[in-house]
Formats: sequence, structure tokens, C-alpha cells
Amino acid sequence: MRDVLRIEDLVLKFRGYTGVTEVLHGISLNIRAGERVALVGESGSGKSVTARIVLGQLQELRSAQVQGGLYFEEQDLNRLSRRQWHALRGTHMSMIFQDPTSSLNPVFTIGVQFTEVLRRRDPKLSKEAAAKRAGELLNSVSIHDHARVLNAYPFQLSGGMNQRVAIAMALANHPSLLIADEPGTALDVTVQAQTLHLMHDLVERTGTAVLFISHNLGVVREFADRIYVIYRGRIVEQGPTQAVFENPRHAYTRALMAAVPRITGGGVPEIQDMDGAFFDPLEVHGEDRP
Ligand SMILES: Nc1ncnc2c1ncn2[C@@H]1O[C@H](COP(=O)(O)OP(=O)(O)OP(=O)(O)O)[C@@H](O)[C@H]1O
Ligand SMILES: [Mg+2]
Repeated sequence: MRDVLRIEDLVLKFRGYTGVTEVLHGISLNIRAGERVALVGESGSGKSVTARIVLGQLQELRSAQVQGGLYFEEQDLNRLSRRQWHALRGTHMSMIFQDPTSSLNPVFTIGVQFTEVLRRRDPKLSKEAAAKRAGELLNSVSIHDHARVLNAYPFQLSGGMNQRVAIAMALANHPSLLIADEPGTALDVTVQAQTLHLMHDLVERTGTAVLFISHNLGVVREFADRIYVIYRGRIVEQGPTQAVFENPRHAYTRALMAAVPRITGGGVPEIQDMDGAFFDPLEVHGEDRP
């Protein structure tokens, strides 16, 4: 199966007042057509920056220095102009975020945003045809009161509703890759689970490949075919989801697993770090988690 995305030896550095900090130390990963791949790691490990590099956003920052191979559907992304890269976003590759309101524009109605998104791929699409297509897309995420939703601004809808709209919009142009960065973690857990199921069904139906970013191995287990574990800017483990769960090889992966909340929990085991030092798995959970 061909690769939709291939990242080779990706290095990211930021220039700041205190000098240069290397954040990614040579990351490689690939996603095949239709595959659901998870990138899992603690807060600050480099998940979102990896996504933003694929979208070409970090390269636009003067303080960021990006090196490494980036191939999307066999195109060398590094050879694209800014404008060509921009044109890929929202058409061939799309993205949904943790907080649905940041995927949507607050100052336009949902209907206007759907039309804008659909016209990226089909500039001559009439308003009527766009509305019809938007209605079909809303059906696909189980929203049936089309008129109300299309005329609403994002702030007039619930978080869960906005998340579903964001998913429908992200998939509107049949992208071959969807990047989902902690989708729905800003929502309550039941709504999050519903939207994940919905997304799962949709990508299965459309054959869209997904890069699914999460700090939660429990969620990843449900969703992904294959997992990459990232730790402090390095991929420390990778493999099919089941294999990683049955036989986690890296101490950090075991620590992440220990941090997945269980209903019948025992004590939290102490786990040996990659460097041989002991660290507390609870710390791995991230200090800034709610
Ligand atoms: N624009 C920037 N300038 C300087 N440093 C940055 C910038 N963006 C991110 N970083 C740093 O890069 C590292 C990786 O950040 P990133 O946002 O990818 O983490 P993450 O794995 O997505 O974490 P989280 O789970 O909290 O979302 C962090 O140390 C962060 O402080
Ligand atoms: Mg992030």
C-alpha cells in the first residue's frame, strides 16, 4: 500500500532569547492510504509541532528551523511553494483540533464556512449546490436540523455540535489525510467518545488516512491501527496497536500505560526510565492535565 505521508529524520529547532533549542531530534514515520496511525506522548513531547510541520505552518515562523524529508502522496513537500502547500490544506489534507471552536471561524455562520471550504476544491460551486452538499455532510455526522445549524454562528451551538461540524468540514473535500490533534479533549468525555466513534465510522467509509494525536493510550487503543510513541522529541516505540499493548518494549510506553486510568487500579508501579534512572509514572501523566 502506498504511503500518504512519509516523514524522514525530522529535526526542529527554535531560536529564542536564550539560544537555540532542539525540540524534535530526527523523527521518522509513515502513514499508508486509509491507515489510522496514532502519535502518543506526554505534554510537550512534540506531537503538535510535528502536525504543524506537516501542514507547513511552522515553516512560516521565523523562529523555527525545520530540516528533514516530508513527502505527501509522493510529492516532496519541501519543494512546494507556500501557496501550493496552502492549497493542500483543507483539500487533500485537513485538520481538526482539541477545541472545536479553534477549527471554526467565530465570525461566520456554519453555512458560509461550509461554502468556503467546498469552494476550495470546486471554485465554481453555486450557493445552492454548496448548501445541498453541506446538508449531506451534516447528515453524515448525525445532525439533522440543517437550516438551524447552517444559519448559526459557532457560539450558538454546543461544543459537541461544533466538534461534529468541524469533523464534517474537515472531511468535506475527501482529504487523503486527516490530522486530528487531541480531538474533543476540550469536551466532556461522553461527547468526546461519541465524536470519536463518528470520526472512526466516517474515515472508515471514506478511506481517509488519519494521524491521530493523543496523550491518552486508552483512546488510542480504540482508534488506531498502528502507534508511534514519542518521548522528548524522539520516537521511542512503534508498531501495530495490539502488539504495542501486548508487549510494550520501551519503559516509557509502559509508564504511559500505567498512567491510563483504570477502574480497578492497584498501586502505580515504579518503572525504569530509558536512562536507567527511576521515575514516577504519575509524572508522565503531565502536570498540566486537568
Ligand atoms: N512557537 C514555539 N516556540 C518555541 N517553542 C515551541 C513553540 N511551539 C512549541 N514549542 C515547544 O516545542 C515542544 C513541543 O511542543 P508541542 O506543542 O508539540 O507538544 P505536545 O506534544 O503537542 O504537547 P501537548 O500534549 O501539551 O499538546 C514544547 O517544549 C514546546 O514548548
Ligand atoms: Mg499538542
